[in-house]
Amino acid sequence: MTESATPSQSRERVLSGMRPTGALHLGHYHGALKNWLRLQQTHDCFFFVADWHALTTHYQQRENLEHHVYDMVVDWLAAGIDAEQATLFIQSRMPEHAELFTLLAMSTPSSWLERIPSYKDQVDKNRELATYGFLGYPLLQAADILLYKASGVPVGEDQTAHVEITREVARRFNRIYCGEQPVLPEPQALLTETSRLTGLDGQKMSKSAGNAIAMRDAPELVESKINTMPTDPQRVRRSDAGDPSRCPVWPLHQVYSSLDTRVELEQGCRTASIGCLDCKRPLIEAIQKEQAPWRERAEELLADPKKVHWIVEVGTERARAVARKTLREVRGAIGLSY
Ligand code: TRP
Ligand code: SF4
Repeated sequence: MTESATPSQSRERVLSGMRPTGALHLGHYHGALKNWLRLQQTHDCFFFVADWHALTTHYQQRENLEHHVYDMVVDWLAAGIDAEQATLFIQSRMPEHAELFTLLAMSTPSSWLERIPSYKDQVDKNRELATYGFLGYPLLQAADILLYKASGVPVGEDQTAHVEITREVARRFNRIYCGEQPVLPEPQALLTETSRLTGLDGQKMSKSAGNAIAMRDAPELVESKINTMPTDPQRVRRSDAGDPSRCPVWPLHQVYSSLDTRVELEQGCRTASIGCLDCKRPLIEAIQKEQAPWRERAEELLADPKKVHWIVEVGTERARAVARKTLREVRGAIGLSY
């Protein structure tokens, strides 16, 4: 376990959530989880499964939800998220989020939600998203954050508008209800330096695009996925020289291989002194090596599902204590403490 220099009570609080998409892939790890691992050593971290958020877009798909929730928590723990350091919980177990969402909804202008970039686009593209829940989802996110008075919110760039609206919601609440003593602090987005991982086709890695390597993919599967990746389209024969900048394998090397290795491989590619399978070999090994401890820990956790449930149970109660305290203050400020 990591040594904690500062007791968690005096650390700054960080909160982040992930939609339960099931088993996570390497893009999730490099884009978010790695950051969470760092933050848990220095901050009082609350990480939660945003299962209500999943329902704002996928309300018709309830069959795998429970599975997805726990699969994701297993991957968090497998990656090294430490339930002693961080508080892990599930949103839908916390009606407190819904209460704060409702109270904040009273004073939030609907235009703030309607004008969120991408909102109109998404609804125009998919009429199933023309729901009250989807419109309100950024406000639900604001409630998620403000309920814990988080000062930092680690998110990707696609989420900065939501943190911004959270700040506006907090400001307006404080102004309307709080006089001298603000109740809801304005959070800061903690942007992950975007290590946006590309997938097997060179596009952004995502489950829906079918181009992902899961954190827990078996070593043989990783091998076959990488070995069947397309390479520089102009390197048709083994004897043709290639150019890594045209090759979808290359961005993965940039994440997984040392500078020395990359220099050597680039040279080999440009002079056709190595074949693509030779080039892919060190990448396969690097990914398998990264995954080995995850797979080991995940196996243990999957063999003991009660343990995972218990971790979430404890985290949910810890979160509830914080949430209740904030809600008491919020109710008081509005004049609802009778
Ligand atoms: N909306 C985020 C996403 O889709 C998930 C999320 C929900 C979240 N609530 C949050 C992230 C609160 C940070 C803080 O990725
Ligand atoms: Fe891509 Fe490597 Fe083949 Fe060059 S040698 S085309 S970088 S896989």
